[in-house]
Amino acid sequence: MKKFLMLTLVLMMGLLLCGCTDSREAADVENEDFIVVGFSQVGAESDWRVANTLSMQQALSEKNGYKLIIDDAQNKQERQITAIRNFIQQEVDYIVLAPTTETGWDTVLAEAKAAGIPVILVDRMIKVKDEELFTCWVGSDFYLEGKKAVEWMEEYFGDREIRILHLQGNYGTTAQLGRTKGLDDGLANNPGWTLVHRQSGEFVQGKGQELVEECIAGGIQFDVVYSENDNMAYGAIDALKAAGLTPGEDVFVVSFDASHNALQLTLAGEISFDVECNPLHGPRVEDIIQRLEKGSTPPKYTYVDETAFDSETITQEMIDQREY
Ligand code: AHR
Repeated sequence: MKKFLMLTLVLMMGLLLCGCTDSREAADVENEDFIVVGFSQVGAESDWRVANTLSMQQALSEKNGYKLIIDDAQNKQERQITAIRNFIQQEVDYIVLAPTTETGWDTVLAEAKAAGIPVILVDRMIKVKDEELFTCWVGSDFYLEGKKAVEWMEEYFGDREIRILHLQGNYGTTAQLGRTKGLDDGLANNPGWTLVHRQSGEFVQGKGQELVEECIAGGIQFDVVYSENDNMAYGAIDALKAAGLTPGEDVFVVSFDASHNALQLTLAGEISFDVECNPLHGPRVEDIIQRLEKGSTPPKYTYVDETAFDSETITQEMIDQREY
């Protein structure tokens, strides 16, 4: 009897242990069912960036079959390089990179390639010696955005002489380079346009405000603020108002992103023209991953269709239809 009891006990222990192993294996299998994505994000410098992160979280959710690991680089390329190395160590299935700047990616992306991890670029572009270091890119045509702003200025101001204060984004980013080139072309083609000052406000509201305050305090006169994103435009508007100037009457603000708050300011006439830069890349990245999972090759470059908003024609209904 004692022997029987012992045997039963041993058998029960064995069954219990088997059960444990089985459920652990089940958990592993469940994890393996997820597609693991490491996303190296620039930071949270602007409304655009926040909307971009949210879009990625919504599209690459557990409900949709993904485990998304986000690393916020706080606008530092070194942090992005470290994040990518961590993703390689974690053996993620895909790396999504929203690059801070265009250059300096060759080594780390070669490491990702050697580990067999596809790299999908979103938003800004990069310059690498070997384009095979990344699988594909999806984002905006930043030069076209700049051209749209310049075309509006040409039409709105006609032959009038204008003095332009230029708030630039972070130097060396595709968004800054494209929008700056758009304005440079405009300056070259319009002899009545003068660039009175140009400086980086790093896409941040507080810095945009500081720059405009400094210009006003320094006696620099200007008719147009060409702000390379909405957050710097918010700062510029605050600085103008604090100095007793009326945006849309004394000074005309041209901006980029067309985020929700900025479109409300466009409707109010405080931003005169806002060029869309669409941050909703989550579903686009998801579509790319699904194509790769099925063994098909996504296009190397995908430019997003974008529009622009004029304070004279924008309506509340148009704003309400927007997703961000
Ligand atoms: O690269 C896109 C730009 O980066 C957006 O215009 C800006 O708001 C963001 O920080």
